[in-house]
Amino acid sequence: MRITSALVDPALLDLPWSTPLEEWPAQHLVALPQGISRHIVRFVRLGDYVYAFKETRERIAEREYDLLRALERIDFPSVEAVAVVADRQTEDGEPLESVLITRHLQFSLPYRALFSHTLRPETMSRLLDALAALIVRMHLTGFFWGDCSLSNTLFRRDAGAFAAYLVDAETGALHNSLSNGQRGEDLEIARVNIFGEALDLQAAGLLHESIDPEVVCEEVVQRYERLWHEITYEQAVEREARHDIEGRIRRLNELGFDVAEVAMSSIDDGRYLVRPKVVDAGYHTRRLLRLTGLDAEENQARKLLNDLDAYRAESDLVDEQQAAHRWLTEVFEPVVRAVPAHLRQKLEPQELFAQIIEHKWLLSEQAGRDVGMRHAVQSYLVDVLVHRPDEQAVLGVEVPTLS
Ligand SMILES: Nc1ncnc2c1ncn2[C@@H]1O[C@H](COP(=O)(O)OP(=O)(O)OP(=O)(O)O)[C@@H](O)[C@H]1O
Ligand SMILES: [Mg+2]
Repeated sequence: MRITSALVDPALLDLPWSTPLEEWPAQHLVALPQGISRHIVRFVRLGDYVYAFKETRERIAEREYDLLRALERIDFPSVEAVAVVADRQTEDGEPLESVLITRHLQFSLPYRALFSHTLRPETMSRLLDALAALIVRMHLTGFFWGDCSLSNTLFRRDAGAFAAYLVDAETGALHNSLSNGQRGEDLEIARVNIFGEALDLQAAGLLHESIDPEVVCEEVVQRYERLWHEITYEQAVEREARHDIEGRIRRLNELGFDVAEVAMSSIDDGRYLVRPKVVDAGYHTRRLLRLTGLDAEENQARKLLNDLDAYRAESDLVDEQQAAHRWLTEVFEPVVRAVPAHLRQKLEPQELFAQIIEHKWLLSEQAGRDVGMRHAVQSYLVDVLVHRPDEQAVLGVEVPTLS
């Protein structure tokens, strides 16, 4: 048995490697929701973490491992590869397939877990947005997926929306950039896969009666095209129209994309052709991380930053860094701590905070005045949080405790 790993955990060596994954004793396994797959996938607890183990051919495991590592280096939202275990054999010397180990994505929900609560059309719409944004991000970085589908995607809650992660990179390839033909091909694969999955859901009675499988897969493609256009279209502007370019950059930031540079070329009539070079998504995520050290999804980060910016304006603090530190210790942490430990298992802290400020806004709207954070937290705990299904119970993973 041979392990290639970025992180050497000696506990790895004690696992029953000479047994096919399908027959591993329950003591090592964690029951978590998972998508449909050709290969055997099991969740295994090692120390404080849960990992996904996938049995597959050595060449495939290694390729996927390398690709996932490459995606991680460019900060792409995908599961993290941890190790490949090869050269396995049974006690009798029969060869066994290799295992690719990835870290289980905390608080993630395979789409089947989301759909099983008879998904409302609005929720469906948010899932499709998240998936379209993931493919756009992917294509901007030159990554060709080759097998985009709902079951190869994981979703995490993101302040009322969802953030999508790539889980299966087996068929992917990282290029410098993609041609329109390659993008079109990747989208066509997505369309066919998602159509099939939506039909399956419909057959299982899990699809809301107002949702049409054909529309579902069409929507992903259309949302993708709209977002892609918004990000990449060339714009002709007057020489003096700096303002237009700034407006465009702001809109892109609002959509969560960072702009590294703006390419300009003059055209005949004295105007300029402008094309922003979008480097990465995660504009708000990065700003929040830089200011507070909190790692959040894009929409969560946007909500937290709004709160932080309002706090900074109210408290007249000029220095952004100092304001961020005070907000973290005087607003964010006390709110999260006010949630009793057993309820903290329900959602991760960033999502909790985002939901609480949303709840505060709703209460304040109803009351016609600012109801204050203390009141909002209490009301949220009693009226909202206790009624939520316990996602930790579904997912069985420890939440990092703050402070
Ligand atoms: N790191 C992970 N975190 C959470 N869930 C995971 C992880 N890795 C795999 N899964 C779950 O296991 C399922 C199957 O994984 P994966 O898609 O890699 O297998 P596969 O057999 O290659 O699939 P395919 O049939 O598409 O080739 C996923 O849909 C997902 O629900
Ligand atoms: Mg898969």
